[in-house]
Amino acid sequence: MCGIVGYIGDKNATPIILGGLKKLEYRGYDSAGIAVIEDGCIELRRDVGKLTNLETLVKEEPLSGTIGIGHTRWATHGAPSAKNAHPHVGETGKVVIVHNGIVENYLELKEELEAEGAKFNSETDTETIVHLIERNLGSTGTLEEAVRQSLLRIKGAHGIVVISSLEPDKIIAARIGNAGGVVIGYGEGENFVASDIPALMEYTRRMSFLESHQMAIVTKEDVHIKTLDGKEINPRVDTIAWDPVAAEKGNYRHFMQKEIHEQVRSLTDTLSGRVDFEKNQINLMTLNLTAEKARAIQKIVITACGTAYHAGLVGKTMIEEMSRIPVEVDIASEFRYRDPIIDEKTCVISISQSGETADTLAAMDEARKKGAMVLSIVNAIGSQAMRVADGYISMQVGPEIGVASTKAFTAPLVDLYMLAIYLGDLRGTLSEEKKFQYVHDLRIIPELAGECIRREESVKKVAEAIKDIRNILYLGRGINMPIAYEGALKLKEISYIHAEAYPAGEMKHGPIALIDKEMPVLAIMPKDQWYEKMLSQVEQAKARGGMLILVASDGDENAKNLGDHILWIPDAPWLLMPVFTSIPLQMLAYHIAAIRGLDVDQPRNLAKSVTVE
Ligand code: G6P
Repeated sequence: MCGIVGYIGDKNATPIILGGLKKLEYRGYDSAGIAVIEDGCIELRRDVGKLTNLETLVKEEPLSGTIGIGHTRWATHGAPSAKNAHPHVGETGKVVIVHNGIVENYLELKEELEAEGAKFNSETDTETIVHLIERNLGSTGTLEEAVRQSLLRIKGAHGIVVISSLEPDKIIAARIGNAGGVVIGYGEGENFVASDIPALMEYTRRMSFLESHQMAIVTKEDVHIKTLDGKEINPRVDTIAWDPVAAEKGNYRHFMQKEIHEQVRSLTDTLSGRVDFEKNQINLMTLNLTAEKARAIQKIVITACGTAYHAGLVGKTMIEEMSRIPVEVDIASEFRYRDPIIDEKTCVISISQSGETADTLAAMDEARKKGAMVLSIVNAIGSQAMRVADGYISMQVGPEIGVASTKAFTAPLVDLYMLAIYLGDLRGTLSEEKKFQYVHDLRIIPELAGECIRREESVKKVAEAIKDIRNILYLGRGINMPIAYEGALKLKEISYIHAEAYPAGEMKHGPIALIDKEMPVLAIMPKDQWYEKMLSQVEQAKARGGMLILVASDGDENAKNLGDHILWIPDAPWLLMPVFTSIPLQMLAYHIAAIRGLDVDQPRNLAKSVTVE
């Protein structure tokens, strides 16, 4: 949930940057820092904990200058500490950077840089970028070119802001993918950069937003935006309305679309502070679990409603696979009235975006009464489901406004995956080798999510083609069976098209009777251990004349031959595949509803938070 603020003008940058960072506090962070150029030198202050600690430090050791950058950090690589906090300065002390995102190839880059003699001062992946920039500065001569060259070397999704005492008249900001937005704020004789709109609202309302693979060269008089291959862009400058919610919508037509796009960032935030790639560890401290408590668990019951329930169904496979604890998944409104068989050896996990869903809270009460350990995975900070649990995982996706849940679906999938590793580790059911693989696989999530989102235009074409259907059958198997449920739910919620979902193996026991020319079938068939089975179901549907829409792995020739329409997805480890199969289905539902001109964000009869039975 990192935040970035930068300033260039005639005023003292320090209070402006600290003020901007304060506006981003709601996103959560574990350390903060600021760098300004003072008398031609970079001055740096960093501290762990709240911004007030940094403010106290700045009072004790003041720094002032008319250009500077600041950052609030959620740890990914390296523990929260002053030395790991951003900004990061290179070896020459002349370049300083703040960064949102994960440098996926940082181990490889670090090795290469160290072989060339670079000395690292932190455990962060970010530091590799500043070393790269310094080296490129030597060979290219300009900061702009050095940043550009360096960005071409790093993998993953990023938002970065750089300043240098060698060129103290400019800030360079860049964005690759969606790990963090980069907003440019236009002032009079001063300009700003930030990761989020609220950081700048006090100083200016005129803003533009960098797209992926764009960089901004910001001086106090001018802003130049270019693509990473050097093409100058004429930026669109928006005047942001005062309403902070409307402000947050930015350039998107609906919140749901914005929230779908935010998933690269929300998934990065989900990993932030929880994964230590260096130590190969998952840290879920807020669960308050000890190895002893984890070993005592004999059964897990996941309980939730709606979309959160579908996340729970995916979580069952993850937890059983990695920790070998049997898992039941129950709809909260059923669980609470069924006298469920649970005791103090049961761990009940509730999943809820709002943390206020009446049935989910009642299920937690029921679990508590029966002596079970009660945990929750919740988005709304401070909500009831967070407060009453023995321990929790915070989804860290920020406010979700669209009634149809999107980013608050993919985040708990990753939370459950991390929980599965964590439990497996505490209980000793995971070999070091497997653990390494599972932890390591987390690294690619933001990038692959970004890849799925980049394919929006082709999903939109499928939406155009099928927008008038009246019914549709969603099929999935194994870990993607719940994604069929979730895809169908998304479609019916916002487009009002009747969509039914089935585990594909059940098709022959009933729903196959429905298939004819009028009943399209959407089948989720990534290349995983259920692929062959899915393929034969799809062939059966084809034989009955049904129109086929397939969610298939890139390069799947069978899918190409069989499908009328295909939503292609990149290859991914099977346990994480639901994150990537769900994104095209969110986009499909969104575009069908948007094309039909419906109220996507507030569909009829539905509420975001259902606080009644
Ligand atoms: C409502 C919302 C759904 C949500 C469900 C559970 O029905 O419209 O999007 O999945 O409640 O909400 P929760 O806040 O507990 O996740």
